[in-house]
Amino acid sequence: MSDEHHPARPNGRSVYLETFGCQMNVLDSELVRGQLAALGYGFTDDPTSAAVVLYNTCSVREQAENKVLSRIGRIGVWKKRGHKVILGVLGCLAEREGSAMLRKYPQIDLMCGPGELDNLPMLIDNAMKTEAVEVADRVALQGNKTRRWATLAAAEDNLELLDLSRSFDPDRASAGGRSAYVRITRGCNKFCTYCVVPYTRGAEVHRPPDHIVNECKRLADLGVIEITLLGQTVNHYAYTHGPAVTVNGAEAAQVGPGLSAFASRGAKPQAARRVTTFADLLKRIHDEVTAVKRLRFVTSYPRDFGDDILAVMAECRRICRYLHVPAQSGSNRILKLMNRGYSREHYVEFIDRARAALPDVSIAGDIIVGFPTETDADFEMTKDLLRRVRFKNNFIFKYSPRPGTAANARLGDDVPPLVKRRRNRDLLALGALISAEVHAEYVGRVVDVFVQKVSEKTTKRSAPGGGRVQLGWETPPIQMSGRTGGDLITVFDVPASHSCDDLVGRIVPVRITGSGPLILIGEPVVDQAQGAAYPAAMVDS
Ligand code: 5AD
Ligand code: SF4
Repeated sequence: MSDEHHPARPNGRSVYLETFGCQMNVLDSELVRGQLAALGYGFTDDPTSAAVVLYNTCSVREQAENKVLSRIGRIGVWKKRGHKVILGVLGCLAEREGSAMLRKYPQIDLMCGPGELDNLPMLIDNAMKTEAVEVADRVALQGNKTRRWATLAAAEDNLELLDLSRSFDPDRASAGGRSAYVRITRGCNKFCTYCVVPYTRGAEVHRPPDHIVNECKRLADLGVIEITLLGQTVNHYAYTHGPAVTVNGAEAAQVGPGLSAFASRGAKPQAARRVTTFADLLKRIHDEVTAVKRLRFVTSYPRDFGDDILAVMAECRRICRYLHVPAQSGSNRILKLMNRGYSREHYVEFIDRARAALPDVSIAGDIIVGFPTETDADFEMTKDLLRRVRFKNNFIFKYSPRPGTAANARLGDDVPPLVKRRRNRDLLALGALISAEVHAEYVGRVVDVFVQKVSEKTTKRSAPGGGRVQLGWETPPIQMSGRTGGDLITVFDVPASHSCDDLVGRIVPVRITGSGPLILIGEPVVDQAQGAAYPAAMVDS
């Protein structure tokens, strides 16, 4: 039985951990869990019974911060009523706010930035020992120190150790424990003017390729068949062998180069030294970890996506034909103010190049609406870009001014909230039209679907009060949901001969019979010869 069933451990070492924001945070939380579990902490899903409540926070937009702040407020009320609990704020909000947050919210006992998570057990220990420890004993923040040194500080080496000591728990992981994230870089060097990430997560640090490949192998040994490589700008991954070593001569994580290092497409930087590029890394994982049937990566940067990466993707079928490559805007004037380092024409050129190399690639992105000074004409150019690229989907965000960023200091926030809302709505509507067309093209085709879970439709139907009336003995079939290699959400009904447990975490061929703006609808391919619901060949290939 897992620790979930023992919420109030007698030794008071039960932890409630809630995660906000991006995939990088999901992975950080997994590492925190593993690290604390190894030290004898247990976990609960009920914050009221926990001895320690940890919020792993996001600071990318104000809305994400507000969610956490309301949770912190709630714990403050509990504490005033005499409830005993240690409250820890982890992640980007902690890093951005700094220790001043302790004065603003006295209910917070400890703060830990995303670059200092290896120090978390010590902070919790300090908070448990005495009620009035010094601020220095309660706070571990990076304070942007990595920017001052080209070589790595000890802190980042410890962070690498935290990644290396990862204890993957298949019971908690998605798709029946068969899907996992692997970090390849931390931080970001791009400094888009709206973004807090370079400040909260620090300089771009590249992990040694051997560490990454070994982590993938370990995960595959535990049954993982889908790996998503994570980095803020994955295509900028480049590990130069030689200079960064630990005291025992092993390769260490190293600070990545700035944009200037990527001037020529697909050429290896610093020819004199041996470099593992992103293309090399993908190929190595693909060739050396064959049990992984789906290799994906997010997030790509539209600049410097070399032909070498596209060639490896084209050559290796187990690498998903999927790119998440945020354009952010379709207006060159706005892209310049965002400091994105590419033009709309560069972006379109990349998409055309990607489609030429991988005709079935599906493209997703992010768009910010209402960036300072954005006019209707700028916005029209963004709409035009959506039509031109024919994205599978875009995540659309209303501009949110972030303290400490260049856009906030220099440009203000002059697009009225109503205009932002209207543009957001318009773009969602246009995006849905395009997505519906993209999805409709799949009708009649057979696609491989990685089955993740029972679909929300079935879950809602079986929830008390959420059901449709059932007549006689007939129960509606269970609907499963999963994703194609191109990340298109696909649903299908489970045939009577199968249980949903058989299917979660497997890759099954599905014939697409219908579609909408958000999903494909299909039926599993039936092997007529064998009369079985699934062909004998329905293995995880
Ligand atoms: N306001 C709105 N959206 C933002 N993003 C990052 N910073 C901001 C901001 N200040 C969006 C970008 C990025 C995604 C993760 O979040 O589109 O790609
Ligand atoms: Fe933020 Fe730009 Fe880095 Fe993405 S590339 S994390 S938007 S600074």
